[in-house]
Formats: sequence, C-alpha cells, structure tokens
Amino acid sequence: MPIITISGSPGTGKTAAARELRKATGFRIISLKGLVKSGKISSGWDRKRKVRIVDEKTLERDVKKLIKPGRSYIIEGGLAHFIKGNICVILRTDPAVLSRRLKRRGWGREKVRENVMAEMLDESVIEAKSLGRKIVEIDTTKAGPEAAALSIKMALNNYRLQRKYRPKINWTGKYPKLLAKIGA
Ligand SMILES: Nc1ncnc2c1ncn2[C@@H]1O[C@H](COP(=O)(O)OP(=O)(O)O)[C@@H](O)[C@H]1O
Ligand SMILES: [Mg+2]
Repeated sequence: MPIITISGSPGTGKTAAARELRKATGFRIISLKGLVKSGKISSGWDRKRKVRIVDEKTLERDVKKLIKPGRSYIIEGGLAHFIKGNICVILRTDPAVLSRRLKRRGWGREKVRENVMAEMLDESVIEAKSLGRKIVEIDTTKAGPEAAALSIKMALNNYRLQRKYRPKINWTGKYPKLLAKIGA
C-alpha cells in the first residue's frame, strides 16, 4: 500500500496533481496545508514574514499518526519530502512561469522572489536527496495536472515492478571463467 509524497515550490501544482492522482487511483489525500490550518500539525508563527512555521522534525510523526495501515495515501505539500513514503515526487516549474503563477495568486514581491529563488536553486530536491528519498522529478511548466498525475502513476508502476522483480539469479557472477571463455 504505497505512500506517495508530492512536494515542490508553491505554485508548481501539487494540490492540482494530487487531486488528479486521486481520481486515477482512489488513494486518499493528506494535504499538509489543511492539517497545519486545522492544528493537527504543530506549528509556530513567523511574525515578520507572516507565515506559519512547521517544525520539520515533528511533522513526520504528526502525519504518520493519521495513516491507517493497509491504505494508500498521497501526501501533498511543500514540506511533504520530510515525510518518508515509497516515492517522493518533486514538481518543478520554470522560475519565470512560476513567478507569473505566484503573482496571479496576489502574492507580494518579496514572497514571490523568495519562492522563485528556492525553485531556481533546487531547494526541495537538495533537501529530499539529503534525506535519502527516492525522488521523481516532474516538470509542470507545460504539462498540466492530468499529465503530472499520469507521470506519477508511471513512476509508481516502475517502483512496484522493481519491488516485485528484484533479480535473484545471477549466473554471470557464478561462472566468470566461462563468461571469459565465450567472450561475453
Ligand atoms: N501543471 C500545471 N500547469 C499549469 N498550471 C498549473 C498546473 N498545476 C497547477 N496549475 C495552476 O497553478 C496554480 C497553483 O496550483 P496548485 O495546485 O495550487 O499548486 P501548489 O499546490 O503546488 O501550490 C493554480 O492556479 C493551478 O490552476
Ligand atoms: Mg497547494
């Protein structure tokens, strides 16, 4: 029963992709933004930047409490890569396009700049890598949420196949001399 985390900068289409993926799979969505708002994830308040701050260390513990065994989940949010799932999807968007999307949300200049810069510098990917996640990057600059969901489904299939067909037999390791003889 897989757990898919979908992370990435704001505006890369995490919420939209998660909804499309739910349509295609029936998996449940855990939306980190919603959980923070409802107080199910502990957070503080940054007065200067006027944003909630989630403690990355307690996040995984708080979210895992909501997971019922035997069910599949899509966990989506800008900090989703802090939660260990089976595959860690990071949505990416060309910074110029992302900037336009965030401005359209009515965000102020500084907030847009900060987030576009994070996208430019691969921040989510670098964090996910350092946490040892199995990363799948998907470019949503041109591809819409449906296409993103399809890519995630394909990544999930690959992941499942790998689990099922992990090679067990290796003759070449057993017969190196024979291998050399036949010139392989
Ligand atoms: N793949 C996409 N291509 C173009 N626009 C998108 C895509 N995904 C989402 N959008 C649009 O971008 C905005 C942000 O999408 P959303 O899913 O809320 O992103 P996030 O959850 O990552 O912040 C929305 O207006 C949405 O319609
Ligand atoms: Mg969202």
